[in-house]
Amino acid sequence: MAALILFGGGGDLAMRMLLPSLYFLEHDGLLPEGLKIIGAARSEESADDYIAKVHEAVKARAEADQAWDETSWSRMKARLDYLAVDATSPDSLKPLKDKVGDGEVTSFLAVSPSLYARIVTAMKAAGLADKNCRIVLEKPVGRDLKSFLEIDDAVAHAFSEDQVFRIDHYLGKETVQNLIALRFGNTIFEPLWNNLSIDHVQITIGETVGVGDRWPYYDEYGALRDMLQNHMLQLLCLVAMEPPSDLDPDSVRNEKVKVLRSLRPVTVDEAERVTVRGQYVAGVSEGKPAKGYDEERGAESDTETFVAVRADIDNWRWAGVPFFMRTGKRLPEKRTEIVIQFKPLPHSIFDRDDRGEVQANRMVIELQPEEDISLTVMNKRPGLDRRMQLQPIKMSLSWGVPNSGDGKSAAPPRRRIAYERLLLDAMAGDSTLFVRRDEAEQAWKWVDEVSEAWAESGLKPDEYVAGTWGPDSADMLMMRTGRDWNTTDV
Ligand code: BG6
Repeated sequence: MAALILFGGGGDLAMRMLLPSLYFLEHDGLLPEGLKIIGAARSEESADDYIAKVHEAVKARAEADQAWDETSWSRMKARLDYLAVDATSPDSLKPLKDKVGDGEVTSFLAVSPSLYARIVTAMKAAGLADKNCRIVLEKPVGRDLKSFLEIDDAVAHAFSEDQVFRIDHYLGKETVQNLIALRFGNTIFEPLWNNLSIDHVQITIGETVGVGDRWPYYDEYGALRDMLQNHMLQLLCLVAMEPPSDLDPDSVRNEKVKVLRSLRPVTVDEAERVTVRGQYVAGVSEGKPAKGYDEERGAESDTETFVAVRADIDNWRWAGVPFFMRTGKRLPEKRTEIVIQFKPLPHSIFDRDDRGEVQANRMVIELQPEEDISLTVMNKRPGLDRRMQLQPIKMSLSWGVPNSGDGKSAAPPRRRIAYERLLLDAMAGDSTLFVRRDEAEQAWKWVDEVSEAWAESGLKPDEYVAGTWGPDSADMLMMRTGRDWNTTDV
């Protein structure tokens, strides 16, 4: 029998993401035959009560996606079980071990990372870290390089690296994988994918939500550690890495880690020029009044809810091509995109009279709210005007838009939760879309340098009004280099 244990099985991540993901996999017939799903948490409740809660959470989510059906649920229900445990105690874990027996066991730690070290030690003692076992660690693993290494050493003591799956759920997003397909499944982009043709890259992860009740966690981490250390640097790696020789986990991750090693450190002198910290004050978000971060937190705080950074990758391919990254809470839109901005024409034969400005080509890889990859190219405006007029046209390069070559519009498949792919991969032992120890280490190293530079230079967050695109200093970061953040569609 194979088993998936969800530590923290009654918590927010499990109820909002993991169990709905498992339901969708069940619905599509993708869960391994005979798999048992066992919730494990502190709360003393019966399996029936737990299953009733799972039912409520999963049904609400599946109905919203029009994917609820009782047959799939009864199949999933038959797999579900619950055990109240103190996961830091080997004795308490013994009944869990007895339940799962000697089959393949994947344990997902959806609990506070401050417990990881104690839990993995107890798991080892209870026989839940044997050769047939795997562990999935939700981010953030650590708060800096030092704490990451402390936790990871405890993990390495119990599990070998090929048993460890460090999740970055951005890697499970469909468009992120499509980026790999686009870059390495086509020949036409590779000759352009370098400093000869690309002017700069922008990565934006905008969120409309505020920090709200999450502040006890968030206040310790801030946008730098919550988003940039992981999701944004992972996206940067996928854009910037060299073609791997294979799609196996190590070939891909070897290339990603080289990118992280090539990131230019942010020094104290440079901090103000290449980074921006922001914190939202009261404003209007999605048409409703929104509190400032300090008010939510109930006290003044120096934690940034917005960060923008100019990163430089010191290698042959990317010399002179800045990567601008920005992310924040309480921005005007939930929008995640990577913009590959190509260089302008070396010489334009069109920019005369009123022929329209020639815009440089731009590829936008949109992860949210839509999933799409588009390329903006200049076209002739149709008509008989003797002076040729140009206009930008946005072409979709992905399945998201009815433009699939044969002229027929195929309905895009349901948008999957990123965890669906990652849960399947972890259970199958495929770590390509997970973060290797040295990757996480390098990412922390670079992020530590940024936060040390902030501490030494005394850089405090600039205010921005909730519902706006961050502080003015974030626009200045771009404008100083003669560039702008991407805001318009075409
Ligand atoms: C999480 C962060 O990792 O990612 C959250 O901790 C953030 O602060 C979330 O809101 C964003 O994920 P997504 O998939 O909604 O963009």
